[in-house]
Amino acid sequence: MVDLRSDTVTRPTKGMLEAMVHATVGDDVFGDDPTVIQLQEKVADILGKEDALFVPSGTMANQIAIKILTNPGDEVYCDAGCHLMNYESGAPSFLSGVQLRAISTERGIFNPSQLDELIRPNNIHFPPSKLVTIENTHNRAGGTVWSVKEVEDISNFCKNFNLLLHLDGARIWNAAVAANVKVKEWTQYADTVTVCFSKGLGAPIGSAIVSTKEKIQDARRIRKRLGGGMRQVGYLAACAIYALDHHRERLIEDHIRAKRLAEALETLGYTIRSKDVQTNIVIFEVPEKKNNNELVEFGKKEGVLFTAFGKNKIRLVTHLDVNDDGIEKAIHMFKKYLVH
Ligand SMILES: Cc1ncc(COP(=O)(O)O)c(C=O)c1O
Repeated sequence: MVDLRSDTVTRPTKGMLEAMVHATVGDDVFGDDPTVIQLQEKVADILGKEDALFVPSGTMANQIAIKILTNPGDEVYCDAGCHLMNYESGAPSFLSGVQLRAISTERGIFNPSQLDELIRPNNIHFPPSKLVTIENTHNRAGGTVWSVKEVEDISNFCKNFNLLLHLDGARIWNAAVAANVKVKEWTQYADTVTVCFSKGLGAPIGSAIVSTKEKIQDARRIRKRLGGGMRQVGYLAACAIYALDHHRERLIEDHIRAKRLAEALETLGYTIRSKDVQTNIVIFEVPEKKNNNELVEFGKKEGVLFTAFGKNKIRLVTHLDVNDDGIEKAIHMFKKYLVH
């Protein structure tokens, strides 16, 4: 099977499992787990922030960030395709009581003038404008990368209007490799940043939220409230450390494979602009008279898994467990589908 459904489907590598076996652990709710402490210090350092907190998922990380940056009734600005609004089960309203205000974008990226149209004057009729969230890379837009300048512009706007900025960096590792910049160049502008170890980096579980010491102390309490306090979780932190040390640079291989897929699909006549594919996510449209759900079923029978996405679209994601042979097998299948 060639599994292109997501970069979350990877199995831990041998090196990761060895790191796990040799990890020293303790009770992390007591703050006693040395491997978790090591991971948190490492992530904070890579992202250029004071402190970090290991959490079970990207969803929990994002939702803790919203919770610690807002009060119920506040308004939060995000792009209309972002993960925290579309794929986190309505958690911003459920957990934080905030109102989301979405910006329509083409590539998941918006600019200060789009925000300017939405933020509210200070008037008792309006919800207080509080937080802006951005996603880098942007999943639903097809792994698009915010430039450092685009984030800097949003940050300057936020400072002028007293807004906070959250960066969902679930795949910021991919962005860094694609843009050839250090993650710090983006994260310096955000009040909170969330990152995932269980996507392109290939760890079995885990994310982190990074910020100031004070905010991470708030985050620790919220994580406990959500039932996310974990005990001898150093075994999983060891996998994340291994992934950070060994799997960041190799993400370029996933990007090259995504590009190969995109170029082949374009040549075959599927609707995609391969030059727009920047990282490990490929989104394309199936030709008229064909159907994306039917293509998913066809792929399954041919040993290639992927997901139907939006209106007649398909999403493919490359990762650690897909090699060049897998890519060629997938291309062969997409060719066969058109003439079947
Ligand atoms: C951009 C983005 N943020 C957050 C998440 C949530 O991560 P998790 O699945 O670990 O909750 C995802 C998951 O795919 C994502 O793509």
